[in-house]
Parts: sequence; C-alpha cells; structure tokens
Amino acid sequence: MTKTIIYLKTMIDYENLQKVNQPYFKEFNIVFNQVLESGWFVLGNNVTEFEKEFAEYINVKYCAGLASGLDALTISLKILDLPEQSEVIVPSNTYIATILSVLLSGHIPVLVEPDLSTYNIDPERIEDAITAKTKVIMVVHLYGKLCNMDPIMDICKRHNLFLIEDCAQAHGASYKGKKAGSFGDMAAFSFYPTKNLGCLGDGGALVTNNSEYLRKARMLRNYGSEKKYYNEYQGVNSRLDEIQAAFLRVKLKHLDEIVSHKNKLAEVYLKGISENFITPGVHRDFFDCYHIFNIRHKKRDMLKQFLFENGVKTEIHYPLPPHKQKALKFMNSLSYPISEEIHRTTLSLPVSSFHTIDDVQKITKILNEFKY
Ligand SMILES: Cc1ncc(COP(=O)(O)O)c(C=O)c1O
Repeated sequence: MTKTIIYLKTMIDYENLQKVNQPYFKEFNIVFNQVLESGWFVLGNNVTEFEKEFAEYINVKYCAGLASGLDALTISLKILDLPEQSEVIVPSNTYIATILSVLLSGHIPVLVEPDLSTYNIDPERIEDAITAKTKVIMVVHLYGKLCNMDPIMDICKRHNLFLIEDCAQAHGASYKGKKAGSFGDMAAFSFYPTKNLGCLGDGGALVTNNSEYLRKARMLRNYGSEKKYYNEYQGVNSRLDEIQAAFLRVKLKHLDEIVSHKNKLAEVYLKGISENFITPGVHRDFFDCYHIFNIRHKKRDMLKQFLFENGVKTEIHYPLPPHKQKALKFMNSLSYPISEEIHRTTLSLPVSSFHTIDDVQKITKILNEFKY
C-alpha cells in the first residue's frame, strides 16, 4: 500500500501562498509604495475604486469593502433588521462561518441537507424546513460551484424570503452565465489569502443591487456612523484596509486567468481520475471556479496517507460537520447523514494557481494506483 509509485523530486504542496502571489510582487510593490506615500490607510481611494471594480466584475450595482467574509455575512443579516430569533435556512454542508453569522446576528440557523451530486443545499429539501419564522435562505456555493439557483429563487419568491449568497468560495464562478453574487438580495465574499481572489491578510465584501442595503453596510462597518461621531446603528469595526484593497485591485485584473488555469487543471483531473473515485459533477449550466477540487472515497484517510507517502499533500474540507462541532453543542445530537457522509469521504486535491498540468498528471497517476 505504501510503495512509492513515482519518484517525485519534491513534495507537491497543497497550497503555497508565496508561489500564488509571486507573479504579482512587482505590481504589489508599486501599489504598496503608493499607499505608504499617501498616508491614508483605511477606507480611502483604493477601497472606493476596488468596490466599483468588484461590483462591475460581479455585474451588480454596489459593493462595500469589509474586514472579512464572516463580517460580510453577519452584516448582511443585520441590514435586514429581522425580528430576533428569525429562522435562517443554511446548508448542513458548509464551513462553520455561515452558521456562526446567523448566531452572531441573533437568529436561528436551520440546517438543510445537500444534494450529493453537487455538495450544495438540495432545493428539493428546502420547503420542508420553512416555518412561519423563516425569513432568509442563505445559500453557500461550496468549493466554487454555484447552487442550483432557479428552484431556490423560485422558493424565495413563493415564500417571500430574502436570499443571501455566501460566495466565500465562489469568486468567478457562474450559473447560466450569471456570476456568483448576482442572484441574492445581498452576497458575501471573503478575500482570505487562499481564496481565488485573496488578499495578503483578511478582507471581505458585501455586494448588492439595493442602495439602501449599501448605505447600511457602509454605516455598520464603521460603528454605525455615516457622519463622523454621529452613530445611527450599533455597528462594528469592519473596514477594509487601503493596502488590502490596493492588492485586491491588482489581483482582480488576473482573476479570470486564475479561474481559467484552475479549470484546465480540473479538466486533467476529470479526464484522468479512475472510476474508483467520485469526482465533482460537471453540468453545462454551471461554470465552476474550483476553489477546491474534491474527490470522494470510502477509505479517505488511508488515501490521504497514501498520497502523502508518495509526495502529494492534500487537505480535507472539512473533517467534522458544523453540527458536530463542540462550538455548536446545541446541535450535536442532530443528524444530517448526507453531510456526515461527505465529511467522512471527501478529500481535496492540489488545484492552486501555481500548480502545473504536469503536477496534476503526476498526482492523477499516483492516485489511480490506490486500489482500495
Ligand atoms: C463558505 C465560507 N463562508 C464564510 C467564510 C468566512 O470567510 P472569512 O474567513 O473571510 O471570514 C469562509 C472562509 O473560509 C467560507 O469558506
């Protein structure tokens, strides 16, 4: 089982943020010096320009730069000013941040199982979870694949529910030609360094077509204040730095290239990986951005070890579902078998912007030697 299949000169990393950012060092240095010389470090010209450029990229009217993806989700819920303890439908198969945003804004997360062929919330299961207290559906476009948006938007319309998109993993992905972030009343993005559009620290954004939501987001990120020292809401400090916005402006120009490179890597995996593994579904309505390229196998832990011993580092997104986390004790007795099955069997293969077709061919060859 542990025999070496291919002699790799060096390990293939799962991620390497030095290599990811290396192509932009020159441009980063220029904009870094400009910000340094300007003496303006929080919410300035770079943030304003980035907000315009990112809104244009997503094809929405407005964007507010924030400090993180979690803040963007939490602020989007606060903007709606819902009755306390409203129910918010979220997928059971997500990163815990989605669920934390609901709790942080004083509401109740109601978990709905995913569709095993997409890993995203199953539209057919949503209506059973709707009650008189349900006010929002918060979808997550996990791994870089959009949710099945037509039926979800239809449910929102019929039940008069708000739609918020968690796009923390979906920069550059689309569904029927429309980008992630352009479907909901609001959408939240994270610019954590490992994202397809990642800054050199923490960052996030809220996008919307609603000018009142934008106005509130801009106030809530700045202590609830529009006019200096006059506070209309109990806001937070969630402002995007000028330096991060300047770096993001550099990388936004390259986002489509990054996504297109990841698609080429994914294509090699999809063509080469044997039927011993479950690979991500592909459908013509969906343009996936492969923030994560996952496969599934019942002997996942053994497979991870096998790949490591043969020179390939992998990750697990995620080893423990949110409802089984210590932090969410009140949910620990609940059962979401589909989500649990995904968490038990999923493995993320290297698919970063610095990986080459050659890397992926080697990984595929090694992977296919795993015979369990
Ligand atoms: C699905 C999802 N939502 C929200 C977040 C939160 O983003 P941030 O780390 O910028 O707060 C993440 C972060 O990885 C995420 O994966």
